[in-house]
Amino acid sequence: MKKLFLIIFAMSLTSSFSQADWIDPLNENLSQRDARMEWWHDAKFGMFIHWGVYSVPAGTYKGEQISGIGEWIMRNAEIPVAEYRDYAKEFNPVNYDPDAWVRMAKRAGMKYIIITSKHHDGFALYDSKVSNWDVVDATPYGKDLLRPLEEACIRHGIKLGFYYSQAQDWVHPGGAKARMEEGTGWDESHIGDFDRYLHEIAYPQVKEILSDYELDVLWWDTPHWMTKERADLLRRLIKLRPGLITNNRLGGDYQGDMSTPEQKVPATGLDFDWESCMTMNNTWGFKSYDDDWKSAQTLIRHLIDIASKGGNFLLNVGPTSLGEIPQPSIERLESIGKWMDKNSESIYGTSASPFRKLPWGRCTQKEGKLYLHVFDWPEEGFIRIPGLRNKVTKAYTLADKKRLKIRHNGTEWYLRLPLKSPDPIASVIVLEINGTPEVDPLYPSNEWDGKIPLNPDMCDIEQHGYGDKMQITDDNGTEYIRNWNTNRAHLSWDFMNTNGGKYRLMAEIRSNDLAASEIQLQIQLNDNREKPVRLETIQLGDWSLGILGELDIPRGINSIQLYRRPMGEKYPKLELKNIRLVPVK
Ligand code: GLC
Repeated sequence: MKKLFLIIFAMSLTSSFSQADWIDPLNENLSQRDARMEWWHDAKFGMFIHWGVYSVPAGTYKGEQISGIGEWIMRNAEIPVAEYRDYAKEFNPVNYDPDAWVRMAKRAGMKYIIITSKHHDGFALYDSKVSNWDVVDATPYGKDLLRPLEEACIRHGIKLGFYYSQAQDWVHPGGAKARMEEGTGWDESHIGDFDRYLHEIAYPQVKEILSDYELDVLWWDTPHWMTKERADLLRRLIKLRPGLITNNRLGGDYQGDMSTPEQKVPATGLDFDWESCMTMNNTWGFKSYDDDWKSAQTLIRHLIDIASKGGNFLLNVGPTSLGEIPQPSIERLESIGKWMDKNSESIYGTSASPFRKLPWGRCTQKEGKLYLHVFDWPEEGFIRIPGLRNKVTKAYTLADKKRLKIRHNGTEWYLRLPLKSPDPIASVIVLEINGTPEVDPLYPSNEWDGKIPLNPDMCDIEQHGYGDKMQITDDNGTEYIRNWNTNRAHLSWDFMNTNGGKYRLMAEIRSNDLAASEIQLQIQLNDNREKPVRLETIQLGDWSLGILGELDIPRGINSIQLYRRPMGEKYPKLELKNIRLVPVK
């Protein structure tokens, strides 16, 4: 019965997608797929390793720092092939210690490792039989880098996957190149036929890595020039490795087994398996001068946020050409490991939160337990559990099993908390409940005077992680959103309007870099995007009250998104305390 329910539930998902519609990989059924994905679902957390010849220039070419991600230096600087090949003569990772890398990942709580076997520059980290552009034939190191990593993973019980760039290849003739016409390149030697490249390099290399290594995951990337026919050529190779998991980046509209949001955490869970991949600084491949490291707190909270939305977190390290993982990455992995030592039960094997949003943190669930991850420890000594209908039979801190008082006041559960938080980054509290969670999805809604407050704790921040750092912060009890310095990041709220009608939109904002009157914002209500507006503002102390305009807002659940304008790259920083929807009489 449960399976039937599951299939019916799966079919109920939006028509554009349904688990039952896309089980395919080579025609398995839902339960076979679930069995194949089980370890991956439970694992939640993996290490991404971007390593190759690009770690030699490490972001600098002919004395100039090349912008963009480090592993793209050949493309971004349009380095001639012969010159780029010369870098391989300096790739000599004599300090490479795969066993130490695997132990480091394991100590951080990571259950799988995905390493680049061949990236867009076409360089193979193993001894390819179809090319001499590999670590054995082209470098002084002269040995396969992937076999010892595979052996270390087997020793330490860590799953292993290879990233393989199946289309882009900036050295072998005919390989695809982003932003270029098929068959062309920036170097004479690039000219060639893409199909010939696929048959002579990509196909045999995918075949050899799947045949010669104990792989659990194959991670495709950038499917430029990939038609369905070309994708089919490579896709049938996954039969070589029964149980193999693949991602959605092969091309040919194949979804694979998981989607791969990059450098961001989706605002809500996705209705398909997903894995958010992210760098600790702003580059996948090593750059000697990228020191813009995300804090351990940010990374731990990303892990929790992702798990609370039902996803996996693939966190990247970019080793140097000597085979060393940068010290700031090692330090962050150790901090994550310390948190996981006490709290990993609230991550591994859990599923997404039953709550739509929680003002004080996140939630995961497993076997009749709710794991509350409290980010903002309340001064008032308690938190509300909004909308939970189940009976709570027990409450305690996960780390030291300290019992906590919980009571229901007729409308909702209140949890009394000790004054001092058990963990400055995220404290985990376990609620044992009767039955499967039943939760009313609560939304910000009209107050007694009809106003609808949209505050930071109920908003979704949607941003790319390449350096964008917009986040909610608490300044002595005043919560606000800071570092809004790019148009690629925007804010969204879902809210309930119990009355329909016209509302004036007011935003409390401030900026140290520009006058409030110069700020332009653009509102989107549900599917209607308004014109960008320059704010009329009233100064209120060190904040300004900006009028965004008036809108007709229907009764029921609505969504509002707020964008910075005009289009551009970097903006003066903006901070936002809240939005108020004020009924216009
Ligand atoms: C992008 C980049 C690639 C990187 C990948 C990681 O596709 O092109 O260099 O390996 O992101 O997700």
